[in-house]
Amino acid sequence: MGVCGMEEIKIGRGFAHGKIILMGEHAVVYGQPAIAFPFPATKMEVTVTETSGEPTIDCAFYSGVLAKMPELLESLRKVAELVLTDLNQQSAKLKIKIESSIPAERGMGSSAAVAVALTRALYNYFGRKLSKKKLLTIVAAAETIAHGNPSGLDALMTSEETPLYFIKGKEFCPLTLNLDAVLVVGDTGKTGQTKAAVASVAEKIRGSKAEYYQKNLDNIGDLVKRSRGFLEKNDAASLGKAMSEGQKLLKELDVSSYELDHLIETADSAGALGAKLTGGGRGGCMIALASDRKKAEEICLELTLAGARATWIYEMRGIS
Ligand code: PMV
Repeated sequence: MGVCGMEEIKIGRGFAHGKIILMGEHAVVYGQPAIAFPFPATKMEVTVTETSGEPTIDCAFYSGVLAKMPELLESLRKVAELVLTDLNQQSAKLKIKIESSIPAERGMGSSAAVAVALTRALYNYFGRKLSKKKLLTIVAAAETIAHGNPSGLDALMTSEETPLYFIKGKEFCPLTLNLDAVLVVGDTGKTGQTKAAVASVAEKIRGSKAEYYQKNLDNIGDLVKRSRGFLEKNDAASLGKAMSEGQKLLKELDVSSYELDHLIETADSAGALGAKLTGGGRGGCMIALASDRKKAEEICLELTLAGARATWIYEMRGIS
């Protein structure tokens, strides 16, 4: 509840944040492990208030009546429908405002984050408790529309506060990051294509070279398991090498892009310990591991000169 002047206005708020997949994207959809962490440098906030007319939504892509939202935002309409049905509030007159610093469609989990923040905001507006299980079920339904076959990793990482070692459908394991290294995140500025990339991997592992691509996914899984050990042993050099190996496997799966490859090569030439794409790929963001903050800043500068839309620095120490 918020107060504005003399009149009390009922407000619901919900928050979420971006996420970074360190290792294991795509293979995680097929039961391999992944390592990911919340990325609080990018945030999502949804505010819900009352309106006198039809329900409306206001975000960077659309501002207008909820029922007439473009197909691109179908997953959001689904979230509103599922939550309002669950709360028995189908005829509520609501004004939904979405504010985000998570770049959209860049592999940082923006579609899951908006579903998380909207679900939280609606439950908050109606003063109802939301269990973790219900939140994840609602976000999974939205992500199935946005992505086709989500692993559930994005839903968890955009709503949780701890780095995770994650296996689809199994208990996830919180990780402590205590690595003497700094991660650089670079945005190509081109939208990624998670849905198309996930569908293309699905085709490959059903196609004539199924065995070959299955082996590729198994190899990504092995790299993730080894990377967990490198994190535990504070072995940044080996983690960097594993990231670069992971990128080769992702390229073979055809989920990289010219822009990603260009920024990854730039980071390598600038002295990164390793670099790869992060998230669904075919655009979006890449990550590079730097030995220290000074090196990370140098890499950021080179990435910017090479055309990166934005860069971020993430300390890999003391996060649990
Ligand atoms: O592009 P993003 O941020 O939605 O990440 C997708 C990650 C995938 O592993 C490709 C798909 C998934 O559901 O885990």
